[in-house]
Amino acid sequence: MNIHVFQNQQELNEAGAGIITSLVQMQPKAVLGLATGGTPVGIYEELVKTFNKGRVSFKQVTSFNLDEYVGLPIDHAESYHAYMNHHLFSHIDLPASSAHIPNGNAGDLEAECQRYNDLLEEAGQIDLQILGLGHNGHIGFNEPDDALTSGTHIVELKAETREANARFFDSIDEVPTHALTMGVGTILKAKTILLIVRGADKAEIVHRALTGPITTEVPATLLQTHPHLVVLLDAEAGRLFK
Ligand code: F6R
Repeated sequence: MNIHVFQNQQELNEAGAGIITSLVQMQPKAVLGLATGGTPVGIYEELVKTFNKGRVSFKQVTSFNLDEYVGLPIDHAESYHAYMNHHLFSHIDLPASSAHIPNGNAGDLEAECQRYNDLLEEAGQIDLQILGLGHNGHIGFNEPDDALTSGTHIVELKAETREANARFFDSIDEVPTHALTMGVGTILKAKTILLIVRGADKAEIVHRALTGPITTEVPATLLQTHPHLVVLLDAEAGRLFK
């Protein structure tokens, strides 16, 4: 595992965008696993700048998002479909047909999970999976539990996850109770995983995730088993790493 601690957000953003850019430059048909939430926003901004300078094209890239809320219309500003369009997809040349996000409004959610798994299977292997980290150690929306699911599945969000995400909504009552998420099997199958963590409030959980005992009660501890894990931390989140 490679852990890098950055003194400021800009350096972290440039490093994250640089890793994605290099991969796509070397491998134009790369398969990217994408995350939403507050953490990757600055990295997507840098990526758009790099694209605008003509240094990278996403025309042949395929992307898979980690998750989507259940029952939130895709035109709701906080749906992950809207997020991805706003922060990345509407600014780059990734074809819409190559950008996959689970459909949290499907009539048959089980069938939608199967459809997403089939698409992932067809794509083979994700080359680079971007991950943020939940305060409770979740990755994607794989919440702490006594057992975890390998493939895409429906999940009931924990109270702490809904509380953390309430900052994006008018009130916590508006935060959906369920989501569709890629499973830990798919995440761990990625060739390289890029974990990004920011902020003092995540210093303890990221330290526990990367150095503590491996347990499904902290899903991110499973990342310790991955042979190509790159971790980008800001100074606050990296406080406990010497
Ligand atoms: C987002 C996702 C989540 C977030 C995590 C951290 O697609 O799968 O695991 O990465 O909840 O969220 P932020 O970045 O908002 O702190």
